[in-house]
Amino acid sequence: MTTAPPVSADRLPALLAAMPKAELHIHIEGSLEPELIFRLAQRNGVALPYASVEELRRAYAFTNLQSFLDIYYAGASVLLQAQDFYDMAWAYLQRAAADNVIRAEIFFDPQTHTARGVAMETVIDGLHRACRDARKIGVDAELILCFLRHLSEEEAFDTLEQALPFRDKFIGVGLDSSEVGHPPEKFTRVFAKSAKQGLHLVAHAGEEGPPAYVWAALDVLKVERIDHGVQSTRDPALMKRLAQDRIPLTVCPLSNLKLCVFPRLEQHNLRELLDAGLMATVNSDDPAYFGGYMNENFLQTFAATGLDAQHAHRLARNSFEGSFASAQEKRRYVDRLDEVFATFA
Ligand code: ADE
Ligand code: ZN
Repeated sequence: MTTAPPVSADRLPALLAAMPKAELHIHIEGSLEPELIFRLAQRNGVALPYASVEELRRAYAFTNLQSFLDIYYAGASVLLQAQDFYDMAWAYLQRAAADNVIRAEIFFDPQTHTARGVAMETVIDGLHRACRDARKIGVDAELILCFLRHLSEEEAFDTLEQALPFRDKFIGVGLDSSEVGHPPEKFTRVFAKSAKQGLHLVAHAGEEGPPAYVWAALDVLKVERIDHGVQSTRDPALMKRLAQDRIPLTVCPLSNLKLCVFPRLEQHNLRELLDAGLMATVNSDDPAYFGGYMNENFLQTFAATGLDAQHAHRLARNSFEGSFASAQEKRRYVDRLDEVFATFA
């Protein structure tokens, strides 16, 4: 099926929730709910600068990416043992399964943990066990190691070295954290080395940063996907390139709203990206901080921008085709998508 059958507007929310989908942009540390932060803080004897879950939640009033990152890194300080990483990932995977996410490619930030003395093996072991167990609840889950771009390339090299003994437990590398002032070119050599290891390559670009960062991620780092990329609409030549090369964009609407990239969800440019023929997808980024997991991102964005069932089918199909699954898995995912759409016809 290349086009979806028509679905009446009143059944659109149910369709958005029921359709199988892939999540390609989720930071596992950004799925840490305040309740779990407090539970892990108590379990590990870590002091938090907030007196209660409610006080912590009240601090989630962000003005830009950096204002969020400061709180996000503080929240991750409660993670010490492999079981903590397992519990965090397992909570996310259960939540994803409830939203009919059948594939998740999950970012993790090892430097946030190794800098506190947590071993790389502890981080990867806990996360990987949860990903393996996710198959029992119908989610194919894989890990992508992200380098923190506010740190040096030398530190990224150290991180890659520490992770290579566990090369079979992650499928790619990415680039995240503070974007402006830390262009992709800073990480040229460590991405080249990662490619030589057969790792997939992705990078955050064009979240707050300029189109030039998206160009550099593509042409210098040679990434296969762009995370966010919403600033690309400022550059018509870049839009053409992204469409022609079918570069997936992992767009995160509620994240963009909460970090003030767009003042209102109604002004989000997801429709513009789709209309220009780009391979956009919908994702949650840091759902515990931004007020919504996958289905909430779909529901709120569709309600605000008037997208329809055809867009829903395209976004879900893009999520599978833009994933790092095998061709056979992708076919199976898209068949399941078409089956669910057929029941809504
Ligand atoms: N780390 C976690 N969430 C992020 C985001 N939205 N942008 C950059 N780095 C991040
Ligand atoms: Zn992100």
